[in-house]
Amino acid sequence: MVMSKYGKYKWVLMKGFFFLYLSLNFAFSADYLSPSSILKSPDEKVLYIACSTASKVIAFNVEKESVTKTYQLKENPSAIVVSRDGKYLFAGCPSSESAVYVVDIETGKTVKKLKTGHTVKALLTSPDGKRLYAVNQFNNNVSEFDIESGKETRKFPAVREPIAADISPDGKLMVIVNHLPMGRADLGIAAAAITVVELDSGNVIKSIQLPNGSTDLNDIKISPDGRYACVTHLLSRFHLPTTQLDRGWMNTNAKTIIDLKTLKILNTVLLDNVDRGAANPFAIGWTADGKYLCITHSGTHEVSIINFPMLIDKLSKLPEQVDHSKINDYITVSKTVSDVPNDLSFLVGLRTRLKLLDSDKCPRSIAVIGTRVYTANYFTDTISITEINTQNPHFKSVKLAPQKEWTIVRKGEFYFNDASICFQGWQTCASCHPGDGRVDGLNWDLLNDGIGNPKNTRSLLFSHKTPPAMSLGIRETAYTAVRSGIKSILFTVQQEDVAHSIDEYLKSLKPVPSPYLVNGSLSKSASRGKKIFNQAGCAECHPPPLFTNMKQYNVGIKGEFDKPTDLFDTPTLIEVWRTAPYLHDGSADTLKELFTVRNKNNQHGITENLSDGQLNDLIEYLLSI
Ligand code: HEC
Ligand code: HEC
Repeated sequence: MVMSKYGKYKWVLMKGFFFLYLSLNFAFSADYLSPSSILKSPDEKVLYIACSTASKVIAFNVEKESVTKTYQLKENPSAIVVSRDGKYLFAGCPSSESAVYVVDIETGKTVKKLKTGHTVKALLTSPDGKRLYAVNQFNNNVSEFDIESGKETRKFPAVREPIAADISPDGKLMVIVNHLPMGRADLGIAAAAITVVELDSGNVIKSIQLPNGSTDLNDIKISPDGRYACVTHLLSRFHLPTTQLDRGWMNTNAKTIIDLKTLKILNTVLLDNVDRGAANPFAIGWTADGKYLCITHSGTHEVSIINFPMLIDKLSKLPEQVDHSKINDYITVSKTVSDVPNDLSFLVGLRTRLKLLDSDKCPRSIAVIGTRVYTANYFTDTISITEINTQNPHFKSVKLAPQKEWTIVRKGEFYFNDASICFQGWQTCASCHPGDGRVDGLNWDLLNDGIGNPKNTRSLLFSHKTPPAMSLGIRETAYTAVRSGIKSILFTVQQEDVAHSIDEYLKSLKPVPSPYLVNGSLSKSASRGKKIFNQAGCAECHPPPLFTNMKQYNVGIKGEFDKPTDLFDTPTLIEVWRTAPYLHDGSADTLKELFTVRNKNNQHGITENLSDGQLNDLIEYLLSI
C-alpha cells in the first residue's frame, strides 16, 4: 500500500498525539499531592490545603466534605496562610529564592508574587492583618512584609533552621521554632531553642533552650488565650548506648509548654506510652476554647487529643522538691516537676490517642473547627476527620485525589518516615535523619563499631555513592547500613522490599543549593577559596564532584573515645553548610576551628600559612559546596 503524502502527515501527527498522551498520562500518574499544610478560612467554611508536590492549593468545603476549587500555581507550595479578611491566599513555595504567591480567592488569579528567602517553611499574618511573615529555613531568619505594598519591612534572626512560628493574639510576641540544636554534640548537652521576638521593637528578647536532647522541633502554636505556647519535638536520650528501645531508651516524643508571661518552660511532657512510642510528633492545633490541644504523630499515623486545662492543673500541683514529711506515694511516677520529662504515664487519663484509618498515613498538618479535627495526610493524599468525643471517637477519611500507586522511591520515603517498621513505634529513620535523610545534630553510640564511642549523625545524601558507610567505614556500603539500621536501630525484621525501597529513596535525594551562593554562583570570596582548596591539598582527599576519594585516614583529629588505630572515612563536603557540628564525634561547631586549632600539624590539608582572609575565603567556599 502506498501512503499518500497527506496520509503520512496524519500518521506522524497521530504518533505525536499518542506520545503526548502517554507522557501526559505519565506526568499525571506521578503527581502525588503530598499535602503539607492545612488551614481554615476565617469563616471556617473552607479548608485550604497546600499540595507540596502538585503545584496547587485545593479548597475543601467543610460542610460538603469535598474539594470544591483548585488554585493552580507554577511551583510547589508547602506553606499557606489566608489574609485575615479572607480575600487572599498566600502560598509559599520553597526554593533557594522562595516565592510567595498572592492569590485572589474569588477569581483564583495570582495578583502578586513576593520574593522571600531560602526554603520558606511557614507563613503567618499579624492579628491586625497588615503584615505577612515568612519563615526561611535555610537563611535562619523570618521575613516581615507589609501586605499592602508587598515590600519586605524587617528580618528577624533565628538560630538554626527555623521551621514554624506563631504570634500571640495581642500581636506582641512571635515565637519561632528552630528545627535543630546548635553547637558541639560531644559536650553532653545539645538542645534546640525557641527564639522569642518582640514585634514592636523587632528585638529577639529571649532564646529558650529546651531540655537536653531536644531536636526535630516541628511546630509551635500559642493557646487561644495567649497564655502558653506548645512545641512538638523529640527528646533524645543520646547519652545511652543504643542497645534497646524499650521505655523510650533512645528517642522519646514530646511537647514542651512555655509560659508566655514568664517566657519560661512550664514543663516537657512525653507523648509516648510506657510500651508504645508516638513517633515524630508534628503539627499542633487547639480548639477555640483552649480545652483541647491536638497533636499529630506523623510516624505512628495518630492524633493525640489532650485535655489542656486538666494537664495544666496536674502540672501546677507538682512540687519542686519531694516533701519528705508526707507518706511516700508509690503509685505516682512524677513526684516533682523535674520527674515529668521522664514519665511515660503522665498523660494517662488526660489524653485520647487515636489511630487514623489505614487509608491515612503521615498526618503532618492539622486544623480544628469546633470539635472536629482535620488532618491532611502526606503520603495518602487524604484528609482524616475526627470528632473530639473522648467516649466514642469516630473517624472518616476523605480522598483528595484518586489513590495512586507508589513508585519505589515514594514507598522508600514512606518507610523512612514510618514508625510501623520500628519496635513499638518509638522512632523512624527520620527521627535521627530529619529533613530528607540529613542530620539531627546529635551524637549516638551505635553498636556497630563497639560501645562507648559516640558518633555524630551523618547525612545520607550520596551515602550510596560513597562507600564505605559510617565514619569508621564499618559498613561496606550504605546498602548494608540501611539493612542493619532496620535490624539494630529500629529492632525489627522487615521484608527485603522495605530496605530496597529505602535505598531507592536515599539514592534519589538531591543536594539543596547552598544559601551562600550568590545568584546560584560562587561569591567572589568563595571563588578565591576554591583556589586555596586546591592549593592546600584538600582536593586530594575531597576531589569533586563528590568531594571524597572514599578512603580512610587519620587526619590528626582524635577524641578521647577513639582508638589509636582508628581511620576515618573521608566525608563528602556537599551540603557541609547544613551538617554541623563537624567531624566523626561532632566536636567542632565551626569550620574555622577545623583549620586553626584542630590542624596544628597540617595533617588535614596545609593550612598553617593561610592568612585570616585566605582562611575565610576557604570557609566561604566550603559553605558554598
Ligand atoms: C538513633 C539515631 C539513628 C536512627 C534512628 C537511624 N540512624 Fe542512621 N545513622 C545514625 C548515626 C549516628 C550515623 C553515623 C554513624 C557513624 O558514623 O558511625 C548513621 C549513619 C547512617 C548511614 C551511613 C551514612 C554514611 O554514608 O556513612 C546510613 C546509610 C543510615 N544511617 C541509614 C539509616 C536508616 C535507613 C535508618 C532507619 C532504618 C537509620 N539510619 C536510622 C543515627 C541513626
Ligand atoms: C588526607 C586526606 C584529607 C585531606 C588532605 C583533607 N581532608 Fe578533610 N577530611 C578528611 C577526613 C578523613 C575527614 C573526617 C575526619 C573526622 O571525621 O574526624 C575530613 C573531614 C573534613 C571536614 C568535616 C566534614 C564533616 O561533615 O564533618 C571538612 C569540612 C573537610 N574535611 C575539609 C577539608 C579541607 C578544606 C581540606 C584542605 C585544607 C581538607 N579537608 C583536607 C580527609 C582529608
